[in-house]
Amino acid sequence: MDVKRIAVIGSGLMGSGIAYVSAWNGYDVTINDIKQEYVDSGMDRIRNDVMTGIDKGKMSMTEAEGLIGRMKGNVDLEAAVKDADLVIEAIFENMDVKKEVFGRIDAAAPSHTILATNTSSLSIDELASSTKRPDKFIGMHYFSPVAAMKLLEIVVGDKTSSETIAIAEAVGAKQNKTTVRAKNSPGFIVNRILMPVLRESILLYEQGVATMEELDTAMVAGAKFAAGPFALGDFVGLDVAFNAMSTLYRELGDCFKPPETLKKLVDAGHLGNKTKKGFYDYSGKGPAPEPYKGVDRDWLVTRVSMPVIREAMILVDDGIANKEDIDKAMILGASFPEGPFAMAQRVGMDKVKTEITKLHEELGECYSVPKMLQ
Ligand SMILES: NC(=O)c1ccc[n+]([C@@H]2O[C@H](COP(=O)([O-])OP(=O)(O)OC[C@H]3O[C@@H](n4cnc5c(N)ncnc54)[C@H](O)[C@@H]3O)[C@@H](O)[C@H]2O)c1
Repeated sequence: MDVKRIAVIGSGLMGSGIAYVSAWNGYDVTINDIKQEYVDSGMDRIRNDVMTGIDKGKMSMTEAEGLIGRMKGNVDLEAAVKDADLVIEAIFENMDVKKEVFGRIDAAAPSHTILATNTSSLSIDELASSTKRPDKFIGMHYFSPVAAMKLLEIVVGDKTSSETIAIAEAVGAKQNKTTVRAKNSPGFIVNRILMPVLRESILLYEQGVATMEELDTAMVAGAKFAAGPFALGDFVGLDVAFNAMSTLYRELGDCFKPPETLKKLVDAGHLGNKTKKGFYDYSGKGPAPEPYKGVDRDWLVTRVSMPVIREAMILVDDGIANKEDIDKAMILGASFPEGPFAMAQRVGMDKVKTEITKLHEELGECYSVPKMLQ
């Protein structure tokens, strides 16, 4: 099937971004929300993106008019999906609300229509169960800001058909995204592999092994990360990081338990840059940084990187994603300087095995050696 018309449900941050990249790349788009004022603010965001495109010389006036001409907004869900070939849902992250909305979409959309969700953390299979077409149900997980981020995770449910996967990947390619495939599982690829970076760093800090600044400096200067784990956590939002880690904790168990320091900051409303306080203080009145503990930088980089490589290997062991897609996803979705498998190759598989075995012996089952290394 050749997708021509896309309905985007939810005109918030993600929905307006998805609508923008769709209309920009030639699709007819209907954007839907529960109130006209929400649709209007989504359309305003899209117009702003268009103006930025024009200002930067990426888009001509004629192209901008074409893009806006391909967009419609409405507050009637059934009308929004009735002639869509693909529906992409981007409403609140709430299972019950999403299931109710998908039940209605399923009843109103033509039988050929593919239904996609942009959920970050909910099960694709459970969402699909609210429809009578689980074979035509798929996850299309975009990253924020949608216009700038190249990555699109295609999340495949138990019953998703290969035709549905091919259609979602073709739409992603036409939207100018690099697609990677993941089987439905908590955190998909990027969030699952990113969480150990933050969790391990916080645990090392809590154990008094290194200060936050010391860990951030090690990962930036030593591992060439664009930002250290604490600075990145503050930038993303500690509530967002806590929710992502809590999903993994709920689904995968204690090895993903959010550390106390993170929980306390979130409970106190210290959410990072947006509240001017998180791991760091951005008010200009914070305490002076703690003196460095003086731990070896290479040791720190290895100590934080090994659990990340381990997590990537477990995804392959469990058939969730392949090595190439994992490396691509971490570079494009999390700004890693190189993918975990490229990193393992560079360090040497023997050393990776030795280091993870050491962690396993010292710290227990959360650091068990992945099958592919045994
Ligand atoms: N924000 C991110 O960085 C990010 C990244 C990837 C995925 N996601 C996922 O994308 C989804 C949307 O996130 P967001 O950040 O755009 O949220 P948002 O709060 O900015 O927007 C959600 C929009 O959905 C609308 N909505 C709620 N119920 C609706 C309904 N029944 N019908 C139509 N519209 C409805 C709301 O009015 C709101 O405008 C979530 O599932 C989130 O997990 C978010």
